[in-house]
Amino acid sequence: MKNQIKITDQKIADAKDLYGIFFEDLNHAADGGLYGELIRNRAFEFSPVDNPSYTSLTAWEKVEEGGAKVSLCVKNNSPLSEKNPHYLTISVENPGSRAGVRNLGYNSGIPIYEKKAYRLSFYARADCAQLRVGITDAAGKEYDGADFHIEGGKWQKYTAVFEGSADDFSCRLMLEMRKAGKVDIDFVSLFPADTFMGRENGMRTDIADMLLQLKPKFMRFPGGCLVHDGSLCADDRTSCYRWKNTVGDITRRPSRRNNWGYNQSLGLGYYEYFLFCEDIGAKPLPVLPAGYNPHSDQAVPLEDMDEWINDALDLIEFANGGSDTKWGKIRTDLGHEKPFALEYLAIGNEEVGQGFWDRYDLFHKAIRKKHPEIKLINSAGPFPCGAEFERGHANAKKNGSDLIDEHYYINPDRLIAYYHRYDSGENKVFLGEWASRGDTYYNALVEAMYMTGIENNAERVKLCCYAPLLCNSYYQNWFPNMIFFDNHRVYGTPSYYVQKLFMNNTGADILKIQAEGFAETEILGKETLFGDIIIGADRCGGTFGDIVLTNDETGETFCFEDFDLFSQERLLTKCNLKCWSLEFTFCRKQGEKGVYILFGNEDKLRWNIGGWQNRDSEINADGSCLDHSVFSLCSDIEYKFRLSVNGREITAFINNERINHSDFLRPVMEELYFTASRDRGDIILKAVNIRKKSTSAEVEFPINEGEGTVYTMSGFREADKNSFDEPTKVVPKTRNISIKNSRASLVFAPQSITVIRICPI
Ligand code: AHR
Repeated sequence: MKNQIKITDQKIADAKDLYGIFFEDLNHAADGGLYGELIRNRAFEFSPVDNPSYTSLTAWEKVEEGGAKVSLCVKNNSPLSEKNPHYLTISVENPGSRAGVRNLGYNSGIPIYEKKAYRLSFYARADCAQLRVGITDAAGKEYDGADFHIEGGKWQKYTAVFEGSADDFSCRLMLEMRKAGKVDIDFVSLFPADTFMGRENGMRTDIADMLLQLKPKFMRFPGGCLVHDGSLCADDRTSCYRWKNTVGDITRRPSRRNNWGYNQSLGLGYYEYFLFCEDIGAKPLPVLPAGYNPHSDQAVPLEDMDEWINDALDLIEFANGGSDTKWGKIRTDLGHEKPFALEYLAIGNEEVGQGFWDRYDLFHKAIRKKHPEIKLINSAGPFPCGAEFERGHANAKKNGSDLIDEHYYINPDRLIAYYHRYDSGENKVFLGEWASRGDTYYNALVEAMYMTGIENNAERVKLCCYAPLLCNSYYQNWFPNMIFFDNHRVYGTPSYYVQKLFMNNTGADILKIQAEGFAETEILGKETLFGDIIIGADRCGGTFGDIVLTNDETGETFCFEDFDLFSQERLLTKCNLKCWSLEFTFCRKQGEKGVYILFGNEDKLRWNIGGWQNRDSEINADGSCLDHSVFSLCSDIEYKFRLSVNGREITAFINNERINHSDFLRPVMEELYFTASRDRGDIILKAVNIRKKSTSAEVEFPINEGEGTVYTMSGFREADKNSFDEPTKVVPKTRNISIKNSRASLVFAPQSITVIRICPI
């Protein structure tokens, strides 16, 4: 029978907020990224606490030319701001031909464009000093500059507007003293005058435009692990992300250690996040720390949680309260009387376990009582499955959380295996972080396939955002990311273009489809998990003993000699058995982590025992989690481990108790993946063919006649990517289409993505 797709006009789900973005300041997504500031370390607050390579003069360079004699000293007595106590004293003994200091910016330098304006501001203090500040090229030639007379011995703000006289992406900001003397300097800032939407303290336009073009319905911010990783004291430099530290005068926002290994100025703070959401038409979706740091297991005593809960209540007031409320007035005074219409709020990022749930309950009750209108989001942890994930769901259900936040970064074949993941289940889901691991066309293709499943289940998955969003290619912490940039260029990965296609063409109502035909499927992977068995000790050491491999079909056993491993691995044996069990004992004598077993060569399977911070027992396939439980290995205790493989079914035991299990189902490629929706009268069909052969279908639309556009991504090689040199190698093509008598015969090319949008006539 011919394949048939009949799009009915019956609404099966509401997808009005379905797709959004997730912004976290990792990969220098904020400072040196979306945040428009061009000066790196503008307040001399960089510290080895943020990154061992930092000093308070990181990104600053002394300039001594033609016999000049300069000394630079970072001080903290009578500072401009107690919250940011450091400032720079420039002392010039001999001005020579050039004396002072210059800032190197991010990447290759400060980018400027001909005829574009740049706003300089800085604070200075001196009894009497002449300062010239200018933008120069890397060799020191000045493009534009201004002279400042500093006097009076008190901190004062100075400003100027410069104009670029060339396109140059490697500029420096030079602060030069033409006479001997001394001056204190702080908060040296340079912004392009045309920030996104012309905002003061605003965003970089090219990156912001890429986000605007996605038309996201919401923006999750400010993290990620960034939110919960840190100390529990808001005044610590290493504290969790506390929103109250991020609003108001930028000189009073305390510089912070970003847990991704750099400094976070907080120039992009909560007020700017809310404004940016408004500017791109996205609903704000903040994530608050829950008084519990899962990285270190530190928790605020339950009786001291008021401060944290009040932070949540005050944030709601800051966003939504009238100017007659304390925090609503603070917002109004910042320049935004109109509320920000906060609707969603997440408590915690990836936290699970009793420490989190006890605290989540407190937030939940207090917020529900005072603000029943806020939709509350609970966490399902960092894994897509496993005991803690299930308990996270149970906790969300018990509390009546509006949504549960799931996160997973997995390989394309796992996404294919997960296609029907949301066909059943109870809790409403916020897929708050997800991606297939890679930045090729094939990754994007499989993501598009997965999103048709999300749309068909939009009654269950209410919000969904790819992650991470932004990456400055010089400062990469994570891979993959949706958008890469340097100091003047930006490009979207193929995943960006898939997200854009789906986000621009979501449709508020998902429509029921009646499909027939589509019988062909293709099963990936092998039936059994053959391959080498390797035993390893992960940053620890001890004795592996009583090692026995059993052929579970015949009962035959193979014994191995005991051996010691110290942060090493050893090939135990090659294994071509279909059903086997490996038993061994291990006693840790050194180190703090655990052990692992590698098996099933082709699938790169791994049982991590005491993985991550010695907190997990996890089975993964090439890094994609198949099952996870909490487990910590103790020293000087002998454990008995058993790994059982039956075909593709994997079960792991510790001390005879089952700890992990996975059916490791083979991914099934269906003939075509599709979904349909309606957007203010337009009918949208999305179809994704992930197989290497084409397929076709007779499509019936719920309109008689119409005209519209077909967007296709096809004809690419699986490994094709975009790059700075070829930023639009993998992008959709468009053509027109008209529909007569409700029908169209469509061919879906091999490995193609098709989005058809028809407007009835
Ligand atoms: O998106 C990168 C990181 O992945 C996030 O910070 C964290 O939530 C997740 O583990």
